[in-house]
Amino acid sequence: MENNKTHFGFKEVERDQKSNLVKNIFSNVAKKYDLMNDLMSAGTHRLWKNNMINYIDFFDNIQIIDVAGGTGDIAFRIAKKAQEKNLNYQIEVVDINPQMLEVGRSRAVDLNLFSRLNFVENDGEKLNFPDESFDVFTIAFGIRNFTNIDKGLQEAHRVLKKGGKFICLEFSKVEDIFLQKIYDTYSFRIIPKIGEVILKDHDSYQYLVESIRKFPDQKSFKKLIENAGFSRVGYQNLTFGACAIHWGFKE
Ligand SMILES: C[S@@+](CC[C@H](N)C(=O)[O-])C[C@H]1O[C@@H](n2cnc3c(N)ncnc32)[C@H](O)[C@@H]1O
Repeated sequence: MENNKTHFGFKEVERDQKSNLVKNIFSNVAKKYDLMNDLMSAGTHRLWKNNMINYIDFFDNIQIIDVAGGTGDIAFRIAKKAQEKNLNYQIEVVDINPQMLEVGRSRAVDLNLFSRLNFVENDGEKLNFPDESFDVFTIAFGIRNFTNIDKGLQEAHRVLKKGGKFICLEFSKVEDIFLQKIYDTYSFRIIPKIGEVILKDHDSYQYLVESIRKFPDQKSFKKLIENAGFSRVGYQNLTFGACAIHWGFKE
């Protein structure tokens, strides 16, 4: 692919267009984003996300950044866990999409978490935070949408403190060929249909399944994380590799 081109699902687009195309997708789905996740994954996304939170080593006064945080689904789960442990904590929820953030902000008000969670409109490829600001960097189902994944990973490394942990939950590759066939049929035939019925938006969900197929597999993504400077990088497959949690440390 030419240098000024990138993938937008299976389409090829100019690199400087992709971010706006992604923004439009999430503006269209923001209000029903959480409902759609439940419908598409039959609730399984909740287990995946809870599993991801288990990779956080909590301590008092922990500073966390959740990039591509959208409606705050990850941040609310982190907040619940920190409160159960009676800890002081602060979470910056960062996203390029103001509509997604707005849904999160009003949820934070309802849950009385507004002082703990700060919702910030910012591009994960160019974060407006100083070096070494955070103990933990989380990103769930976000980095797949970046124009430049390497830049996103370099920014994660930059804003983490020494000893800080990067944790990423993302769709990945189902390795078993038979299961992959079933998963492909479900993804390409059913998911865009659900989008069409619930949101009158087939195309956003067509993008979703295409973008999943374009994302690097477990081992290739691990390599990208190492290339960004992280150490002790590892991953765990979830649901036969439909998703994976990757982690790494800044040393
Ligand atoms: C599938 S949603 C995930 C939201 C949330 N993390 C969750 O798991 O429910 C992807 C989010 O990534 C955001 N996003 C895409 N590209 C981004 C970028 N370059 N910087 C920050 N956020 C981005 C989108 O606006 C969207 O809210």
